[in-house]
Amino acid sequence: MKNTYYHQLLENNKNWVKNKIDKDPTYFEELSKGQKPPVLWIGCADSRVPANQITGTLPGEIFVHRNIANMVVHTDMNMLSVLDYAVNHLKVKHIIVCGHYGCGGVEAAMQNKSLGLINKWIRNIKEVYKENITELNKLDSDKKRFDRLVELNVKAQVYDLAKTSIVQQSWKNETGLEIHGWVYGLNDGIIKDLKVSMDSTAHLDDIFTLDLEKK
Ligand code: CO
Repeated sequence: MKNTYYHQLLENNKNWVKNKIDKDPTYFEELSKGQKPPVLWIGCADSRVPANQITGTLPGEIFVHRNIANMVVHTDMNMLSVLDYAVNHLKVKHIIVCGHYGCGGVEAAMQNKSLGLINKWIRNIKEVYKENITELNKLDSDKKRFDRLVELNVKAQVYDLAKTSIVQQSWKNETGLEIHGWVYGLNDGIIKDLKVSMDSTAHLDDIFTLDLEKK
């Protein structure tokens, strides 16, 4: 193995551990006792949008699920398992869907190029595009349409979260769970709160509200 970059990562790890222990000898001992993160993060897999760094949080504070274009797909067992565990076992208080401007997944969805397997994943974003075609077509540049679709996609994923029985049951149980939609700017590092937060089914169309008993 001659890949120096690869070996550097392991070196970095050793330095990081040393740094942590120098500052607090019990750091890992304490962290290994368990986690009680107040936040579930559903973000894009993009390497430039790391949940902890951009929110100034530490290990133990954010439970993370990431996929291409921060999607909440109701048949995605991975996402559902993370959501169930975060809400029902870790009892997170906030779920944040965080998209980002310049998202390659969203950009691909705006085009007609066939991308193989990825077509199936980004098909959901094409639905968001179609649902908002009137608003998007009023914008006077592709850049503006792209930025707006990133926002509209996050909003759609927040609503899709609200449509899950996991989130609705939590609301029924009056846990105080809040769900939020954010967009991160790659070019300035600033997070925009889309102000689509929800803590009940009040903003959902009736047809999506499930009959649930308080548990
Ligand atoms: Co992305």
